[in-house]
Amino acid sequence: MIIEEVGLSDVKKIAEMELKYIYHPYSEAVLTEMLKNPNCLALKAVEDGELVGYISGQFVIDEFNINNVVVRENFRRRGYAESLLNKVIEYCTKEKTHKLYLEVAQTNDAAIKLYQKLGFNFSYERKHYYGGQSALVLVKTL
Ligand SMILES: CC(C)(COP(=O)(O)OP(=O)(O)OC[C@H]1O[C@@H](n2cnc3c(N)ncnc32)[C@H](O)[C@@H]1OP(=O)(O)O)[C@@H](O)C(=O)NCCC(=O)NCCS
Repeated sequence: MIIEEVGLSDVKKIAEMELKYIYHPYSEAVLTEMLKNPNCLALKAVEDGELVGYISGQFVIDEFNINNVVVRENFRRRGYAESLLNKVIEYCTKEKTHKLYLEVAQTNDAAIKLYQKLGFNFSYERKHYYGGQSALVLVKTL
């Protein structure tokens, strides 16, 4: 597995994955704008030349907000998401970031277990954030 920064040529593939796997997907246009923002960090996991997962987020002063972590269905449970998150944590440590935040649907057991494994803790609940269900805001302090 190779982890590297996402480029503009990856946007189409990522937008397809957003549509398939994410409740509020980012469009190609939004992803393109996001990548041009110098505060954005977006990493991809590549296997045999194929983009199999990605993570994105923004640095906001001394915090980092994770937007999404997504791994293609037939590549799950092989450590891709964990490696992507660990790489983001490595970048955050270098940038002297103090806290990482994210939102996750309260029924998304796989993602919640992933974040708990990497040391994220429950901060507060945003009710009805995803239509009928709440989002849990999780935080990791470095
Ligand atoms: C959540 C998601 C990113 C996990 O990706 P992944 O590459 O399969 O995760 P990993 O293989 O790195 O798993 C790391 C740890 O997360 C937890 N985990 C991941 N998937 C899990 C599942 N289906 N059930 C239980 N625990 C799970 C485990 O603790 C796992 O460690 P272990 O394998 O030692 O038990 C993936 O399921 C996904 O893309 N889901 C759809 C998009 C999504 O919901 N993203 C999160 C938005 S907030």
